[in-house]
Amino acid sequence: MSKPLRIALTKGRLEKDTVGLLEKLGFDCTAVREKGRKLILPVPDANLEVVLAKANDVITYVEHGVCDMGVVGKDTIMEMKGKFFELVDLGFGRCKFALATKKGFDFYSGFGIKTIATKYPNVARSFFEAKNMDTEIIKIEGSVELAPLLELADGIVDIVETGTTLKENGLEVIEDVAPISARLIANTVSLKLRHKEIENLIKLIEENL
Ligand code: PRP
Repeated sequence: MSKPLRIALTKGRLEKDTVGLLEKLGFDCTAVREKGRKLILPVPDANLEVVLAKANDVITYVEHGVCDMGVVGKDTIMEMKGKFFELVDLGFGRCKFALATKKGFDFYSGFGIKTIATKYPNVARSFFEAKNMDTEIIKIEGSVELAPLLELADGIVDIVETGTTLKENGLEVIEDVAPISARLIANTVSLKLRHKEIENLIKLIEENL
């Protein structure tokens, strides 16, 4: 048997759905489910090796070819870009990027440069560049909703899933930026060298989505 195809999975929010999908394909994911603190786990019957990593690192490992494939959110792909193929929209991990402000704030009025807080500066920058709108972007690491509340920013560009965090903090979406869901990505060289195996896996996934 050839060496296992190595697939990097995003730890956390997407992990359960990804493992659920692999099991739906008929693969035994016991080692992944009972991983403890282990980070590389075999899925022997599928000749797969699962690597558990943070979203940004999934892209780094796939780009560098140390993982053949990866499962990562479109949010991370949009922010990091990079050289890899985006193969399949896996349909789970659905949410969106949105521009939000304090409830009732008239974001587009006035002439002053607006300040935007975000974990995704590249996404925010492209969104406002497309509108030809000058903004000051401030990078925040988490709980971005705090920034307008503390008067650091006029608005935020952030992930909205259920909308609960915005609602409970007196904020509202004023514009959708982009839809998000989990994507299967592949290293460009792996896609050539291990074409048949990757193609078979994609076929199986598409039949089971
Ligand atoms: C994300 C996002 C929002 C929240 C949205 O944050 O940045 O804060 O989830 O979810 P909701 O619409 O269902 O309320 P996450 O929980 O990943 O934590 P973080 O803000 O600390 O990064």
